[in-house]
Amino acid sequence: MDYRTVSSVISGRPADGAPGGRIRSTNPARLDEVVAEVALGDAALLVTAARAAREAQRAWAGVPAPARGRAIAHIGRLVEDNKEALARLVTREIGKPYPEALGEVQEIIDTCDFFLGEGRRLYGQTVPSEMPDKQLFTFRNPVGTVAVITAGNFPVAVPSWYIVPALLCGNAVVWKPAEYSAAAAAAFHELFCRGGGLPPGVFNVVHADGPTTFEGLEKALDAGLIDKVGFTGSSEVGARIGELTGRHLQSACLELGGKNPMVVTASADLDLAVEGALFGGFGTAGQRCTSLGTVICHESVHDDFLTRFAEATSSAAVGDPFADVVYGPMLDVKFAERFDAYLAWIGPQHKVLGSTGVGRITAANPRDGFVGDPAAGLFYHPTIVDGVRPGDKIFDNETFGPLVGVTSYRTLEEAVDLANAPGYGLSSSIYTRDASDAFRFRQGISAGMVSVNNSTSGAEAHLPFGGNGKSGNGSRQSGQWVLDQFTRWQALNWDYSGRLQKAQMDVTELTPDRDFRL
Ligand code: UN1
Repeated sequence: MDYRTVSSVISGRPADGAPGGRIRSTNPARLDEVVAEVALGDAALLVTAARAAREAQRAWAGVPAPARGRAIAHIGRLVEDNKEALARLVTREIGKPYPEALGEVQEIIDTCDFFLGEGRRLYGQTVPSEMPDKQLFTFRNPVGTVAVITAGNFPVAVPSWYIVPALLCGNAVVWKPAEYSAAAAAAFHELFCRGGGLPPGVFNVVHADGPTTFEGLEKALDAGLIDKVGFTGSSEVGARIGELTGRHLQSACLELGGKNPMVVTASADLDLAVEGALFGGFGTAGQRCTSLGTVICHESVHDDFLTRFAEATSSAAVGDPFADVVYGPMLDVKFAERFDAYLAWIGPQHKVLGSTGVGRITAANPRDGFVGDPAAGLFYHPTIVDGVRPGDKIFDNETFGPLVGVTSYRTLEEAVDLANAPGYGLSSSIYTRDASDAFRFRQGISAGMVSVNNSTSGAEAHLPFGGNGKSGNGSRQSGQWVLDQFTRWQALNWDYSGRLQKAQMDVTELTPDRDFRL
């Protein structure tokens, strides 16, 4: 497969030209390596794709759900057979270390494994009626056409969380992947269409920039061509999409940012906590929505934790994502530039640890033990900022990149308040040997996901994934929970009495003896 030129695909045909211009998707570990030339579409192209999806959807919904489940099974097997090739492309295009990229592809396979069986379930219920000779039922109906807009930090796993259940439930899809992961998206799209034997129009992909996508989405919603939007990305854009879909009386499935806390209690196994903080904070160069934001340490272990965490971070391998490293480059130039702006939030009240420098790793700003040539790509020093407090920008905001804040607390109540203070609510973690601390934390934390003695990232593919507050509108992906995003319940009542029986009125009432006492 050759993904050197990538264009939108609608109804199985590549779109002509590049009305939105052409961009290059480059390898962030070797900026001079072009992974793909991408032809971008315009708003009209997104509307065309939505129309194609609308036209294909009814027939797709008519394919029996078990047969759609088989299609998902075949997609899973084809992805499995192409696991290494797809993972290599992911590593080349966004710089995620190869073992993580393999894990990411595995997440598609796991998602397919879960949903292939759902084709033979997709249960509705039979419900007793309050009247004789009448039966009630519930059915799950597909919502119709689904627009999926995803980020490039998980360029293939997160899309599968939307697209697999959406297709399984009988919806048609228009997918707008991140521009900087267009080649991985093209590979994913082809594996799905070929593997599933999907009829043309059931799964379309449109490459476009953000503002164009928003414009196209608005037009497609106005034209009544989109019934559901799934979005993974920043809280800011998520709020705009929520507003737009709200105006069309729809509720989007939003998976947004996180400022994920890790509480380290006095009883914690500190080495385990350090290992979790290193992976959670610096894995994927801190560019997961589940990445660790702030370590909230009990004051009695703060200094000890900080020393061990700084040591582990200082000696962590950073560099070439095809080598044995904790993390590689930033995803793309846009992310590197934004991370530079976050680093400017470090103030004199903070203590900085974790590396031989701060900012971009270069010959003039070297990192001890760097693996490869730092000048070739967008590599950044890991940065621990101790002494962050509410009111500090670093404490209050997501800082997508290899930066972890550290603060301390006295009581667990204070730790929970600090953990909730930034107003996000995606993932969270507590390291403790005390069960009551773990349960009190679970109860008080605003996050949709809680880890005990495990890092903030690394959710399994069949548990509900999603957040609250600035992390999302309460929608959940994965497992059985996502079915409510891509189906609508329909209630059927069937009266075979041959007369009109009125609910609440023509109801048999048995007479109780309410005066009876023992
Ligand atoms: C994301 O960053 O958008 O739990 C998803 C995790 C991964 C998924 C992250 N399984 O970290």
